[in-house]
Amino acid sequence: MTHRPDDALTPVFDRAGEATRRPRDRFPRTPELPETAYQIVHDEMMLDGNARMNLATFVGTWMDEHADRLYADAYDKNMIDKDEYPRTAEIERTCWRMLADLWHAPSVEGAAGTSTIGSSEACMLGGLALKRRWQHARRAAGKSTEKPNLVMSSAVQVCWEKFCNYWDVEARYVPVTDEHPVFDGHDLADYVDENTIGVVAILGVTYTGAYEPVASISQALDAIEQTTGLDIAIHVDGASGAMVAPFLRPELVWDFRLERVHSISTSGHKYGGVYPGVGWVVWREEKWLPEDLVFRVSYLGGDMPTFALNFSRPGAQVLLQFYLFLRLGFEGYATVQRGLQKVARHLSHGIGAMKPFELVSDGSDLPVFAWRMRPGYTENWNLYHLSDRLRMHGWLVPAYPLPDDMSDRTVQRIVVRAGLSLDLADDLLDDIRTEVSYLDKLQSPMPVEGTGPGFHH
Ligand SMILES: Cc1ncc(COP(=O)(O)O)c(C=O)c1O
Repeated sequence: MTHRPDDALTPVFDRAGEATRRPRDRFPRTPELPETAYQIVHDEMMLDGNARMNLATFVGTWMDEHADRLYADAYDKNMIDKDEYPRTAEIERTCWRMLADLWHAPSVEGAAGTSTIGSSEACMLGGLALKRRWQHARRAAGKSTEKPNLVMSSAVQVCWEKFCNYWDVEARYVPVTDEHPVFDGHDLADYVDENTIGVVAILGVTYTGAYEPVASISQALDAIEQTTGLDIAIHVDGASGAMVAPFLRPELVWDFRLERVHSISTSGHKYGGVYPGVGWVVWREEKWLPEDLVFRVSYLGGDMPTFALNFSRPGAQVLLQFYLFLRLGFEGYATVQRGLQKVARHLSHGIGAMKPFELVSDGSDLPVFAWRMRPGYTENWNLYHLSDRLRMHGWLVPAYPLPDDMSDRTVQRIVVRAGLSLDLADDLLDDIRTEVSYLDKLQSPMPVEGTGPGFHH
């Protein structure tokens, strides 16, 4: 090993690695002192946006200090080592069973579920179960399994495009329009057929935060079954809403109370309140998770069923989820989500009252809302410019086009998450007012077209 005179005694920013440039595209040849390596990584991170001011993401950026302590206690747990960490495995099972209960499964004992790395994996698993069930039924009837399709709104999150792409399923998108700003089951008969593996309903559309009316979609499928005999199941992508609606709108029927809802997925790391890295999927009854998709790993001398795309995966987030379920319970989650909704309504009220804007949603479903420019307000600036200007204050507030058939409209959106207090929200409103007033004083259009949509759904 090469010893360099600069090591431990040299002030940190005068050491090799800090005072010299390292090639970024070659594997490092020599080691660094841990302090130097730490400082380099730490300083790179410093150049990222501030996570708490990232109003683009749905994903948790704040937990309390007990959770932080548990995280530090648990970072070495591998979720797949069920035999080695049987308590963690049991806690995982406890968590999805608690969710089965929260989402009104007819019997918690009869349900099936698992944790995942996030909603994307959970949606993939939900979609795969739909596809396999359809394949079994088709094969049993001696029919072709060559052309499966999945029906959903054009406002789905990209994970569904991925699902269809990776698993050779035709994606059939029902466009959102002025008459149907959310997918509500209208014209569904034009989209489904004998090759439809299922319909996706989104509880909390990523673009606007609005809930798709799962009960209406279910009724539309009932009507289709009566005329065609096709029995088509629903997967609810409740990435955000499945951890909000049960607490804020318990009377809203969107979950396993609807028999057609075979599976529900959510992100524990969104309104479940955990740091990035955990999702959940639950099937209302074991029979809707085809047995031939399930692998068995050894567990306490026997075996435990697993259904996952990954093998190794951090177990810490599952433990954090259990901590939050215990810490908050139903009443605590209701208090937290109510608080977030209050902040969202406060912000949407403030922004809706500003001259250039009109609200597209107001935070009454998810604590998320979007707005757009009033048509004809100005040619001098747009929401991308406002997004750029807010970035100078540290706020990350994305602007982006709506999905098809409304993609000619640009909106801007705020996701209110734990850690955005009413005080901070007022600071944000002040910053928006300041920047609107700056932009309104322009005598001619901004020289460049803003940075454009940097945010992807
Ligand atoms: C409706 C919906 N589905 C799925 C996802 C993907 O979630 P994750 O980031 O947990 O994979 C998101 C993320 O925003 C979402 O809003």
